[in-house]
Amino acid sequence: MSIFATKSIEQLKAEAAVSGEHSLRRVLGPINLVTLGIGAIIGTGIFVLTGEAAAQHAGPAIVLSMLLAGFASALAGLCYSEFASTVPIAGSAYTYGYATLGEFVAWIIGWDLILEYALGAATVAVGWSGHLTSFLHDFVGVAFPAQFAAAPGTLVQTSAGSVTAVFNLPAVIITVLVTILIVIGVKESANVNTGIVIVKVAVVLVVIVGGAAYVNTANWHPFIPENAGPFGEYGYSGILRGAGVIFFAYIGFDAVSVAAQEARNPQKDMPVGILGSLVVCTILYVAVSLVMVGLVPYQAMKGSPAPMVVAIRAAEQASGGSPVLHAMTMLVELGAIAGLSSVMVVMMMAQPRIFYSMANDGLLPPFAKKIHPKFRTPHITSIITGVAVAIAAGFTPIGILGEMVSIGTLMAFVIVSLGIIFLRYQRPELERPFKTPWVPFVPALSALVSLGLMAGLPGATWLRLIIWMTLGIALYFAYGFTHSEVRKRDETLAAAGGTRRR
Ligand code: ALA
Repeated sequence: MSIFATKSIEQLKAEAAVSGEHSLRRVLGPINLVTLGIGAIIGTGIFVLTGEAAAQHAGPAIVLSMLLAGFASALAGLCYSEFASTVPIAGSAYTYGYATLGEFVAWIIGWDLILEYALGAATVAVGWSGHLTSFLHDFVGVAFPAQFAAAPGTLVQTSAGSVTAVFNLPAVIITVLVTILIVIGVKESANVNTGIVIVKVAVVLVVIVGGAAYVNTANWHPFIPENAGPFGEYGYSGILRGAGVIFFAYIGFDAVSVAAQEARNPQKDMPVGILGSLVVCTILYVAVSLVMVGLVPYQAMKGSPAPMVVAIRAAEQASGGSPVLHAMTMLVELGAIAGLSSVMVVMMMAQPRIFYSMANDGLLPPFAKKIHPKFRTPHITSIITGVAVAIAAGFTPIGILGEMVSIGTLMAFVIVSLGIIFLRYQRPELERPFKTPWVPFVPALSALVSLGLMAGLPGATWLRLIIWMTLGIALYFAYGFTHSEVRKRDETLAAAGGTRRR
């Protein structure tokens, strides 16, 4: 039987309609979904990577990089919206792949999404660790032992000289806490998430409004610094490279689609959740980055784990020690600590639900589809995810993690975008409550832009992707190939047809 067997949309919908003790609860409305998206989007990208992207690549034109990365995400968002409204069941790009490009491609996407969600959560855990230790140092006066706050082998400079790190303890601790939360349940997790999202958006707004008064417009000139020679160091290529780096800041809107089976009205609310959260975040990002590069010369944010704090501190000094600005730095630190944990919640909620879908299809062993009788969450896969994220976060540097997340996510974007074109020609009659405009132009452009951003990532990241994917393909042929429910069904049908013919 073909490894390209597809699951019909009708079958997917029927599966989603099955209710009873084994199904997930439909509790999320449109506001919950937009909040879920913002919760996943605003995180390490804006709080940590913006400074580096401005300092090393784009200068004040980081604002243009933000717009470019937002544009790429919006194109993919339009494609995700059409899929999520047409195939409203748990599983995200994995499910869309199964419905359109067949089982093998679906498996590839599902395997690839582990990079986005599990490694994404690990990346954010490391960013969280950095903010926690700097908050403890700046406001509590406690120096967290440097050897237990970074990946093994990292040389960390302290006031007493440099030490070699053993592992990242705060990153492991936050992962354990988030794992407990997601095992307890989605409704509870979504409520906690809503509270944190309000804090996070408020912090960004305070920086925009409060910081605007202290902007020194001289810092915006030259807006596009002259290219320093190599590709990506300022100038137009710097804007492009900056967009590639800051793309990480937009990852997460697609996590909304994973919650389709827990949405009350997925057809209508999925596009609202995905595009709504993306629009809100793009506006916030553009405004906050404009303020940041206005408060401080962009070079000053180089290498800082908390560039927003650096920018506000500069304004504080320039103002002769304004207490309002001092309070703002504390707010940003606390907002980042709370905000990054909400990103982890969404990502770590998404991962077990993808495993759940894969196990339902027989591509993973049955234990992965077990739902806890009381909490109604996929508890076993949540715990497995938690352990894997903790190991990755405790032992891997943030740079390697972040690049793997970007390349994995972009690959999923490319496949999803192409899938939209495929499905329009293959199943033109399907009901599509949300339609991507100008097909095939928009999805083709989306795939091209994502490929372009992938091409900008280093060779070592590509190599890691190839190794990861090879491992995934080997696993598929070792297990999924022989256990697939869809293939078993097709084989049964074929056998019955054969008997009749005889
Ligand atoms: N967009 C998410 C972040 O910035 C992944 O942390």
